Amino acid sequence: MNIVERLNLCFFLEKTMAEIYHTMADKYPEGIKLFQKLSKEEEHHANIITLCMGFYKTTYDAKLVPPPSAMELTESLEQVMTAREKLVSGKLTLREALERSFQMEKCVAEDYFNTIRSSSTDKDIISYLEECYGDEKSHASQITDFLKTLPA
Ligand SMILES: [Fe+2]
Repeated sequence: MNIVERLNLCFFLEKTMAEIYHTMADKYPEGIKLFQKLSKEEEHHANIITLCMGFYKTTYDAKLVPPPSAMELTESLEQVMTAREKLVSGKLTLREALERSFQMEKCVAEDYFNTIRSSSTDKDIISYLEECYGDEKSHASQITDFLKTLPA
């Protein structure tokens, strides 16, 4: 994948994660504050990615379908798609939904790391991606903290 293809994938992941947390905020009132916050931050990341794409004079707007370049399924794409599917089917407990989100955030953080590492690109782009990378890692720890507050 080249940098533009990677950015397309990141955009899709961010939009989908925003949607997932939005769904979780509706489904699990106990976690509404956290999920609304995470959803907002994923939207913010999607905007950052759009900004990065502008640098390459490209846009990408297919919100519900992964970009064709990602059809060699990356692990993060698989995690995000499965999380969405399971949440929509309504079969997850709050704890299961949180555990799945934690895995998803870790994979997506890893993806950013690879994107940053593989791009010999502008410093501004790298710093934007580093912001997203840091946030996904922070999401994973916020989810862990919230999990600890749940009754066993
Ligand atoms: Fe994100």
